Amino acid sequence: MNVLLIGSGGREHALAWALSASPLLTKLYAAPGNAGIAELAKCVKLDAADHAAVLAFIREHAIDFVVIGPEAPLVGGLSDALAAAGIKHFGPSKAASQLEGSKGFTKDLCREAGIPTGAYGRFKDAASAHAYLATQPVPIVVKADGLAAGKGVVVAMARAEAEAAIDACFTGAFGAAGAEVVIEDFLEGEEASFFALCDGKTALPLATAQDHKRVGDNDTGPNTGGMGAYSPAPVMTPDLVERTMAEIIRPTVAAMAARGTPFKGVLFAGLMITKSGPQLIEYNVRFGDPETQVLMMRLTSDLLSAMVATADGALDDFELSWRPDVALTVVLAAKGYPGTPEKGTEIRGLDAARQSAGVEIFHAGTRRADDGRLLADGGRVLNVTALGATVGEAQERAYAAIKKIDWPGGFCRSDIGWRAVVREKANG
Ligand code: AMP
Ligand code: GLY
Repeated sequence: MNVLLIGSGGREHALAWALSASPLLTKLYAAPGNAGIAELAKCVKLDAADHAAVLAFIREHAIDFVVIGPEAPLVGGLSDALAAAGIKHFGPSKAASQLEGSKGFTKDLCREAGIPTGAYGRFKDAASAHAYLATQPVPIVVKADGLAAGKGVVVAMARAEAEAAIDACFTGAFGAAGAEVVIEDFLEGEEASFFALCDGKTALPLATAQDHKRVGDNDTGPNTGGMGAYSPAPVMTPDLVERTMAEIIRPTVAAMAARGTPFKGVLFAGLMITKSGPQLIEYNVRFGDPETQVLMMRLTSDLLSAMVATADGALDDFELSWRPDVALTVVLAAKGYPGTPEKGTEIRGLDAARQSAGVEIFHAGTRRADDGRLLADGGRVLNVTALGATVGEAQERAYAAIKKIDWPGGFCRSDIGWRAVVREKANG
C-alpha cells in the first residue's frame, strides 16, 4: 500500500516508524514531516487544509491509505473530503471530531449517556458565566470551548483567576475557540491517558500510558503539550481499564453511532482517576503526543493492519499485542517553551545517542539546514525514547542517551516517570 501520513510532530515520527515496519507498506509519504520522518518517508509540502490539493496528490501518487495525525485537519473535515472521494483513511469525520473540537459537545454527550465527568455549565456570554461561577466553590476549571492548541484551559485555585479566565475568553484571547466557555468542577486524583481504536461500533483498548503536562520537575510550572510519557501506567489496573471501557469509552462509541456520526479512529480519553473511579477530563480524536512514542515502542502488532481494520469496521476480530517491557520518553524542548521557543539552534550528537541499547529518538520540531546540520524548529524538538525491563531501567537508558546529545539550546525534565518509579520501589 502507498500511505500518506499527515503531520510533523514526534507523534507522527513514531507512527511513521511503526508504519515503516509494516509488511503491507509499499511507499510512505509524509506531509509535511520533519527531519526525522525524512529518513523513513518521502516528505512533501502539502497544506492539509487544502482538500483539493491533498486529493490531487493522492491521485497523482496512487495513495491507498491516509493517516491523519493532528486534530486540526480532522476538525477541519479532511476525513469527509477523503470519504467523499472514496479514499480509505484513518481518522474520524468532522462531526465525530466534535468530541475534541467542542468541549461543550462532549460534556452534553456525557450527560446524556451517563458518562462520569465533572459537573459543568456552558455559556455564550460573560455575564451568565460570572453568574454561574458565583454559585460554585473553588478550585474550578474554565475552558474555551474550541481548539486552542492546549492553551484554553485554566485550573483556577482562586475565584479571581476564574473570573479573569472568563473575561479572557470573551475578549478574544482564544479567538473563535473562546466564543463559548465551559465551567467545570475541579476533579482530584491522578491523570492517565487512555486510548482505544474505534471502528464505529467496536472499541479496542491500547496499552496504558501516562504523560507529564507541566514544564518543570515535580510537576511545576505552566502546562505544555506533554514533557514525557511512559507505558504501561501502573495507576491503570486491569480493573480500571475495564471500568474505563464500560463506563466511558463504549457508551461514547454507542452514543456517537446512535447520533448518526459514528467515531472511527483513535479515541484518546484524558482521565482523572478519582477516589470513586475514572472520570473523563476531555476527549481528543487523535493519538497523544508524546504518548504515541511509548505506545509504538511497545506495539508488536502491525500498526497499518490495525488502522485499516479500524477504517474497515473490522475491529471485532482484531487483537493487539504489546511487549511486556516499559517504554519511557523524555521530551527535549527548545529554551523558551511553552512560551516562545528559540528557533534555529544546532543539535549535535544524535547519531551517538541513538546507538544506545533499546533507544529510539523521534523528532518533533526539527529541520535540516541546506548544509545538512540539524536545527531546532519548534517548541518540543526531540523525544528520546527507551525500553527497559523496569521503569527505572527505561528511565536510566533514556537519560544516558540524552547525555550524549549536544544541544545547548534545549532542556528537558529530569524526573520523567517519577510516579511509576515510586510505585515500583514501593512494590519492591
Ligand atoms: P486539557 O487541555 O483539557 O487536557 O486540560 C489541561 C489540563 O488541565 C489537564 O491535563 C488537567 O491537568 C487539567 N484539568 C482539566 N480539566 C480539569 C478538571 N475538571 N479538574 C482538574 N484538572 C483539570
Ligand atoms: N499529550 C497530550 C496530548 O497529546 O494532548
